Amino acid sequence: MNSSWDIKHVITIMLIILHCKGANAESTKKIAILAGTDVTLNCFFNNPEHVPLKKITVEWGIMVDKETIKHLVYTFQNESGKVHREGSQVDQTGLLQGNASLHLFNVTVADEGLYRCRVIITPNIYKVSSQLEVSARPSVSLPETATVMEGEERTLMCDIMGFYPENLAVTWLIQNGSRVARGSMARGTVSRDVCTGMAVPNPDGTYSVSSRITVQATTVGSGGAMYICHIEHRSYPDGKYSKSILLTVQDPGFNAVTLMVVTSLVSVLLVFSVIGGAMVFYRYFFTVPPSISDIIKPTIIYAMKPTNLKCIIKRVRVRELKVKWYKITANTDCTAASNSQSMALLSHKDMSDQANIHSEGVDHVSTLSICLSVSEDQAKYLCVVLYRGRKITRETTVSVKVTPSFFHISSMPQIPEVERLLVLCCRVEKFYPDDLHLEWLRNDGEQVRTATNYGPFSDHERMYSMWSKIELTVAQEDERAVYTCRLYHSSFPGPGYKDVLYHINTQGTPPSVMFIKCEPLLPLPDEECTLNLCIKDFCPEQVSVTWFKDGQGVPTRQVFNSPPSLNINGLYSMWSFLKLSPTTEDYGSEFRCRVVHIAQKELEERVFTLSDLIVT
Ligand SMILES: *[C@@H]1O[C@H](CO)[C@@H](O)[C@H](O)[C@H]1NC(C)=O
Ligand SMILES: *[C@@H]1O[C@H](CO)[C@@H](O)[C@H](O)[C@H]1NC(C)=O
Ligand SMILES: *[C@@H]1O[C@H](CO)[C@@H](O)[C@H](O)[C@H]1NC(C)=O
Ligand SMILES: *[C@@H]1O[C@H](CO)[C@@H](O)[C@H](O)[C@H]1NC(C)=O
Repeated sequence: MNSSWDIKHVITIMLIILHCKGANAESTKKIAILAGTDVTLNCFFNNPEHVPLKKITVEWGIMVDKETIKHLVYTFQNESGKVHREGSQVDQTGLLQGNASLHLFNVTVADEGLYRCRVIITPNIYKVSSQLEVSARPSVSLPETATVMEGEERTLMCDIMGFYPENLAVTWLIQNGSRVARGSMARGTVSRDVCTGMAVPNPDGTYSVSSRITVQATTVGSGGAMYICHIEHRSYPDGKYSKSILLTVQDPGFNAVTLMVVTSLVSVLLVFSVIGGAMVFYRYFFTVPPSISDIIKPTIIYAMKPTNLKCIIKRVRVRELKVKWYKITANTDCTAASNSQSMALLSHKDMSDQANIHSEGVDHVSTLSICLSVSEDQAKYLCVVLYRGRKITRETTVSVKVTPSFFHISSMPQIPEVERLLVLCCRVEKFYPDDLHLEWLRNDGEQVRTATNYGPFSDHERMYSMWSKIELTVAQEDERAVYTCRLYHSSFPGPGYKDVLYHINTQGTPPSVMFIKCEPLLPLPDEECTLNLCIKDFCPEQVSVTWFKDGQGVPTRQVFNSPPSLNINGLYSMWSFLKLSPTTEDYGSEFRCRVVHIAQKELEERVFTLSDLIVT
């Protein structure tokens, strides 16, 4: 009896150990499902003794890792269940049989994660983890057929909406007869441009993306070609999905509108028999096709400056003509022959209300006035010319530039010393884009090759800054040598660069001391006035300014000196102010300001006599 009780317990303990070992050894189970379906996550535990419900605690949670709960999904304690995620359920009668499996209804992409079931029947704890992988299958929209006019091009769009996870690849395949080619590989010949946007998030946690291919009619065979939007995504049973569009070429001579025109022409001929006139008309409008220029834009487009884009249209009658402008914005480059995922989603914006047209007879200039910001760099503009049911599109990409707002050379030490190290730092700030190239030249043309560059760094406004540093040991003969920091940037008009100069000057630059002025010009007795003196263009920064009244120093509380400010020429300037409320005795007094600077040959003074003209 006693020994059989022992054996029973030993077996139970062994079972528990085996079970625990088994549970630990078992890798986390992975369950992959589609959003919108229901799922059961299994969790079985050992309940051979049919422990009552009130002793069982169950906790289902989504985990950060195996031990840390991100949030709870379902808990069972004190004989009652608590639903933390709506539509989750653990069957209570199942618990008595050791089944704490969790049922989730209508799974969404937000339910994805590592799930852990923890069952506590003191003193035992059971843990089971499963990885739930939720995928959302996108809806793909691509028309079944499309046409392209002979000699023109056509852009096909494949919109892929509502997928999860974000990782998705789009390729265009072209089936021409029995041959299948990849759109992106057929560089230049088949697809001038394949572009896939960046996946954009939707409010429900899924993503959408668009991909387009631009096709020239000349590359499409007479029987048409099949363009296949090929998607690779986890949500498809074999990981991929294709949708195709049949593109056919339409002969412009036989479209409906032209036929109608021809028919009415024939009637005109019959009724009026003005064969000659009609021939001229026909020749003019049918044998000499209209010409539409490429979009004309300034060589450099500056951010926040009014800019005009122009499209010149010839040989179209004004009442048959309609010109529309569109902006396509992309956050990153969309280069030809590229179909990578890192592209921005394209958005078309009708800009036609910012355009105007100037016509002379059958020739027209359509002008779009825009003002671009750097965030619109690489935006595409389309000029769409519509006439007689035909549509011709011209496209251009704008590159936005910002010229550096600040460039300057600073030196360490401020005054170079012979046989000592001199560090020159050329700072260039707030330019766009980052294609700044910088070089150092000594005197005229000799290049300094030891520069260290820092940057370009970008700031929160997407502007760039860059520094470049050179170090040299000043020699006696370097006095008056000129160092040039030459900046090349795409925002500079010809010759494409700007120079910042630094003159080696071991002597410093003495200030230019202006004359003392009084504000107001003729102060009344007891009226507060300020004497001011401007001290300009000195280096180094240290300067001493002292005020005297009739040879006596004035109290410092009456004096205010502005801190020296650095000018673009690398020299400093400052103001000194003396505040007073003149009493009648002050009239006729002599105010003197003494300026002392290390680079001066002799100290400088300025004198001001408070005018007593006004005192009667
Ligand atoms: C469970 O019930 C007991 C007694 O009924 C109570 O003392 C305890 O606080 C309850 N625990 C929770 C978490 O509700
Ligand atoms: C465990 O419970 C789940 C949900 O309540 C149920 O679907 C499943 O069939 C049960 N499994 C067993 C082996 O009883
Ligand atoms: C499932 O969830 C989605 C999104 O929360 C909701 O739109 C849909 O109506 C739900 N379906 C059912 C059957 O509850
Ligand atoms: C398709 O075939 C036609 C002739 O059959 C050829 O002219 C054209 O270049 C081909 N296009 C592509 C995309 O291969």
